[in-house]
Amino acid sequence: MAGEERSVKLHIDNVYKEYKGEHGTTVALNGVTLDIMENEFVCVVGPSGCGKSTLLNIIAGLHEATSGTCYLDGKPITDVGVERGVVFQQYALFPWQTVLKNVMFGPQMKRLPKAECESIARKYIKLVGLEGFENSYPKELSGGMKQRVAIARAYANNPEVLLMDEPFGALDAQTRAQLQTELLKTWEEEQKTCFFITHDVDEAILLAQRVVIMSARPGRIKRIVDVDIPYPRDQATKNDPRFLELKTEVWNEVYQEYLEVRK
Ligand SMILES: Nc1ncnc2c1ncn2[C@@H]1O[C@H](COP(=O)(O)OP(=O)(O)O)[C@@H](O)[C@H]1O
Ligand SMILES: [Mg+2]
Repeated sequence: MAGEERSVKLHIDNVYKEYKGEHGTTVALNGVTLDIMENEFVCVVGPSGCGKSTLLNIIAGLHEATSGTCYLDGKPITDVGVERGVVFQQYALFPWQTVLKNVMFGPQMKRLPKAECESIARKYIKLVGLEGFENSYPKELSGGMKQRVAIARAYANNPEVLLMDEPFGALDAQTRAQLQTELLKTWEEEQKTCFFITHDVDEAILLAQRVVIMSARPGRIKRIVDVDIPYPRDQATKNDPRFLELKTEVWNEVYQEYLEVRK
């Protein structure tokens, strides 16, 4: 944002992660360093198994790095926290609760008055286009609708950082496009720091201010591409000549890494 001072929100400092298993040690991340600015939208792309989820889980505080540290506002991340909202590919909803109750969960954990929890929940249910489904149960909803509930639930916690791990990965192309557009709109209205993983290059370029390309395992940052396309963006942005240029550039880099994996 021109003229606006922005501070580093997330500082990922030389993160190394290995998993020890029956068949030896897997190095998932090998020295990842990255700064993500306040309110920035960053997408991470890379071949399957390159450590994207591992990195997100470490930032979320769900996994511990073997060495190196992630910092939020300069403080080391050691645990999960309400200031970081996570959305996974598989919507983790409470099946026995209605949409409204699912979205109210976070505010209620903060012990806000019930009426306030409800009004916060209704606001985000509306924002993700689910008005009218407040009293539905997850099993009555399509995959796209469930994912909208998961996003509304993350927003209702009012996190400073949204961590999204292929949140639209399981959806059909049309639903996916619609949710991309909604997420863009939401972010344009209510900016938050977004760390969004996808292996869809189009999705990454459409959403992000910067696309971080990871190398094949052990994951490192291979390149960072600035997406110099102004917001507001929508699906038509995918036809922008600059979009197509960036797409070719990012796609080639990702494809090279994919070939590495196949070797
Ligand atoms: N809990 C785990 N135990 C052992 N190996 C794991 C575990 N989680 C991930 N891995 C391995 O670490 C590598 C990176 O995985 P992941 O972060 O899930 O990659 P991505 O999300 O980019 O597909 C893969 O080789 C995967 O098999
Ligand atoms: Mg993953």
